[in-house]
Amino acid sequence: MKFPHAYLLRYLAPVLLTTTLAALGQQPAPERYPDVPFVATPQPIIDQMLSLAGVHPGDRLVDLGSGDGRIVITAAKRYGIDAVGVEINPALVRQARENAAAAGVTAKATFVEGDLFDYDLRKATVVTIFLLPGINMRLKPKLLKELQPGARIVSHRFDMGLNWPPEKTGVVLGEPIYLWTIPKRP
Ligand SMILES: C[S@@+](CC[C@H](N)C(=O)[O-])C[C@H]1O[C@@H](n2cnc3c(N)ncnc32)[C@H](O)[C@@H]1O
Repeated sequence: MKFPHAYLLRYLAPVLLTTTLAALGQQPAPERYPDVPFVATPQPIIDQMLSLAGVHPGDRLVDLGSGDGRIVITAAKRYGIDAVGVEINPALVRQARENAAAAGVTAKATFVEGDLFDYDLRKATVVTIFLLPGINMRLKPKLLKELQPGARIVSHRFDMGLNWPPEKTGVVLGEPIYLWTIPKRP
């Protein structure tokens, strides 16, 4: 497999440089490092994730860990819905905003720089994630607490463990995708 030099230079190099300088006492360390590296979801998988979630006008989508913004931008462009990306890496937030501008969806696709665990999800009706199994486990109580009944969660590649089986699954380009719906509260 070809080594992704562009990815290394653009996204990992600043993190490595900051970490090294911080270790040398040259500059303060960032408050928080990413829990997951940036790996982009291919477009056919995004299309199926949004289809599996039954995205429709009126939905408000949040992509937790939004990378270069591609899921948020697709949702805004194709479905005309308001979509928000939450991303901890400032370089990726800048890239996502540029990509949204190039796609002509700045009014609908917005990006928040910050930790996904701090973002208030109460207004979201669809949440998309491409994280890691352990991060999904940490996120699960927040999703169940903040999202309204009927809100949908779609995950690329990783599930929520044995205690919360998905209601639907799919496979695109050999990658699993999963859907959950927040149940009615007792
Ligand atoms: C695997 S990438 C997925 C990117 C995008 N959602 C997609 O599917 O194309 C995970 C993203 O989460 C971001 N991330 C990791 N930890 C985070 C955190 N605690 N808060 C916000 N973003 C985070 C990373 O910087 C990275 O861009």
